[in-house]
Amino acid sequence: MAAAEKPPYNRSGGDANLSSHTHVHGAYEEPETPEVISRRQWMANATIAISGVIGLTLAIPIVGSLVPDVGSGGATFTPLDDNGWKQLQTATDKAVQIDINLKSKDAYLPEQTAPQSVWGIKVKDPQKFMRDRKDLFVDDKDTLPYPVVTMGFVLFSPICPHLGCYYQYKTATNSFFCPCHGSTYDQYGARTGGPTARGLDPLPLREQSGVAQAEWIRYAPTVPNRLVISYTS
Ligand code: FES
Repeated sequence: MAAAEKPPYNRSGGDANLSSHTHVHGAYEEPETPEVISRRQWMANATIAISGVIGLTLAIPIVGSLVPDVGSGGATFTPLDDNGWKQLQTATDKAVQIDINLKSKDAYLPEQTAPQSVWGIKVKDPQKFMRDRKDLFVDDKDTLPYPVVTMGFVLFSPICPHLGCYYQYKTATNSFFCPCHGSTYDQYGARTGGPTARGLDPLPLREQSGVAQAEWIRYAPTVPNRLVISYTS
């Protein structure tokens, strides 16, 4: 009987198949050719470029949402309630409370709506009004950057200039009275008593395409001069 054929061994006595396997494995340890390096570099560059495009696509809207709206908080005109405006036009010498819906937008929040009301008076005697409210017409830093009397009317902010309460109108005396600390104002908003340092604050009024509009301004309380704090409620 023929002896069983022995598997071939390599010179070092190892298995020939093992030797072959070891040889193949060694091929990965050989230096890369310029073509391989160039292809790998191209893949790396392409990956960086694609990542950059994806990053920009995500970053632009994210960054955009974090940048405050430049126009937010700026001065805006709001339509006066139509009924209130008509009442003011037919008013005699009595003050008329007119509703407005203030729209405001803070940097990162959706637009907000806040109901407010302003006081309107008809200026029947402009000379008397200017004498009474000299503080609105002096030719220095107190001069307001908008016309106080528009279309023969004046609008007053409903905020008391003393410390910011809402004052009231007294029909019987045709004057204004603040319940918080007792400041009083005459029919044209001039200070007549109490701790307030100035008269009522006027607001800009205009007519746009047949609609009367007011601009809301909040002034600093307490101080005698009118310093704008904000254009929102
Ligand atoms: S807040 Fe009006 S008198 Fe003080």
